[in-house]
Amino acid sequence: MMEKIQTIERFIFDQQPETAHGEFTNLLYDIALVAKLIAHKTNRAGLVDILGRAGAVNIQGEIQQKLDVFADEMIVRICDHSGRLCVMASEEREEIIPIPAKYKKGSYVLVFDPLDGSSNIDVNVSIGTIFGIYRCTDWDLRGRLEDVLQPPRDLVAAGYILFGASTLMVYSTGQGVHGFTLDLELGEFLLSHQDMCLPEPPAFYSTNHAYFQRWSPGVQNYTRWLQGQGDMDAPTLSSRYIGSLVADFHRNLLRGGVFYYPAEHDKPNGKIRLLYEAGPLAFLIHQAGGYASDGFRSILDIVPTDLHQRVPLFIGNESLVRKAESFIRQD
Ligand code: AHG
Ligand code: MN
Ligand code: MN
Repeated sequence: MMEKIQTIERFIFDQQPETAHGEFTNLLYDIALVAKLIAHKTNRAGLVDILGRAGAVNIQGEIQQKLDVFADEMIVRICDHSGRLCVMASEEREEIIPIPAKYKKGSYVLVFDPLDGSSNIDVNVSIGTIFGIYRCTDWDLRGRLEDVLQPPRDLVAAGYILFGASTLMVYSTGQGVHGFTLDLELGEFLLSHQDMCLPEPPAFYSTNHAYFQRWSPGVQNYTRWLQGQGDMDAPTLSSRYIGSLVADFHRNLLRGGVFYYPAEHDKPNGKIRLLYEAGPLAFLIHQAGGYASDGFRSILDIVPTDLHQRVPLFIGNESLVRKAESFIRQD
């Protein structure tokens, strides 16, 4: 029997409440469109050796654009004139991105990491785009910094696009986490992972072990516990680390596990950015039955004070993340 085939457009439409005006639904369509455009470009990234490296001058005398800059510009170009947003913020830009006065303003705020895992671009390893959507705080005003600096708990949607062996778009509007795989021949995202939930028992822990000496004793002891050293309740895990947060997150979402990028002696807030990375992924992990923490409190409750603020991140199955908190409290 043929299974029901559902496009992302159909699925988003079916999930919207009857009272919806379509503004939010259309914003998600825009993101799916951006996803296809970036996927098209990243799939050709291997050709840089033939066509010229990023930063090098190509045959037409133009400077090759870096993929993360391309992704950033593509998102802004598709989303700034749609009438659905009041402001945007990108990891690639120092300031907020206002909606030009010539365009109608909408009621949503888009925050994004245009290309996560940039160190993996040139070596053909999975990379991704992460996004979060908030409601604007004052409908009468054009977008301001205050609209962007909202705690992740107030997100109305979040998601990511993973450019891996296939292209996947995963998102949540607060009604579970759903994944769609891009069918290259149809040019459509088709529902492939409905209601994703973190499995138990978890399979992996993911961290950059090379930094072990830079961590607090609590995080070092937590790592030893994850490796099965010590007490009786130690888990049985294997280790995986890609170095693209979005890809590490996706694998752990499917198989269960914990990803952590903790504070370091000279980097007290670690590396991961609250607005563009930790916040949206924390929203998703909660929807999938997991938990995200900075070692002390839920990532969802942290009110950003700075656009590019970094935060230590522990994210995955709740039991593993709570254990991190208890080791860190003992420091
Ligand atoms: P970005 O490419 O957007 O700057 O993010 C890179 C981040 C994240 O994707 C990943 O988890 C982390 O950097 C890896 O850092 P290390 O190389 O220090 O492990
Ligand atoms: Mn990133
Ligand atoms: Mn990035």
